[in-house]
Amino acid sequence: MFIGGNWKLHLDTQSATQLTQEIVAGLSDKQAAEIVLFPTFVHLPVVRDALCNSDVKLGAQNQSEHEQGAYTGEVSAWMLKDVGCQYVLLGHSERRHVYHETDAMIAKKLTRAFEAGLKPVLCVGETLDERDDDRASEVVLQQLNAAFADCDVAQIQTTVIAYEPVWAIGTGRVATPDQAQTMHAIIRGFLHDRVGDKARDVQIIYGGSVKPDNAKDIFSKPDVDGGLIGGASLVAEDFLAICSAF
Ligand code: 13P
Repeated sequence: MFIGGNWKLHLDTQSATQLTQEIVAGLSDKQAAEIVLFPTFVHLPVVRDALCNSDVKLGAQNQSEHEQGAYTGEVSAWMLKDVGCQYVLLGHSERRHVYHETDAMIAKKLTRAFEAGLKPVLCVGETLDERDDDRASEVVLQQLNAAFADCDVAQIQTTVIAYEPVWAIGTGRVATPDQAQTMHAIIRGFLHDRVGDKARDVQIIYGGSVKPDNAKDIFSKPDVDGGLIGGASLVAEDFLAICSAF
């Protein structure tokens, strides 16, 4: 299982430190899931320091498709690795829709992440219109094909895939466990075509309005290997409840 806390554009130095400390203190020693926190770029060092001596890992919310150069405002995969990240979120729907990141950019970002030794968490998901048009699986498969265009089998195997239906993000409208399972099985099928039986070992996580009261039902589905949590990851008690909801 994999549980990520995507803090998006929230918190300050003091509250990020405190939230990290509360999460670390509240996790049991027997925690079976891989837990990863994704603060803003500027809070990576303080969260890293607050995580010391814990098994919780550090990740960034985005990364440049360039290695270095004249790209004002960008942060490279190497810089993230250097500051202590092990993971990076790529292709989040807010990046795709608000910042117009294309499939081609996301494919380049994946390559940069692998070069730096980061594990990407690749986000895919359809909009409400696409679902209503019965195109949800077509859209998700197209996003996967495009993102993995330049990846080899080993790289695909190391990627965590987050299925985040856009209509469920920050809306309180969660996908039903069956809707999540259906799409996760389609993603598993895609992976099987690309990496064979190793597809079983790839983590496919669900994101979109996961809360303490719905996490267990979603996580109980066979192809749901955890969650990517937005709003509920900003409250230690809620995030901890989700971390133990399986
Ligand atoms: P919410 O949990 O706030 O819906 O956000 C989900 C998400 O976008 C995680 O990346």
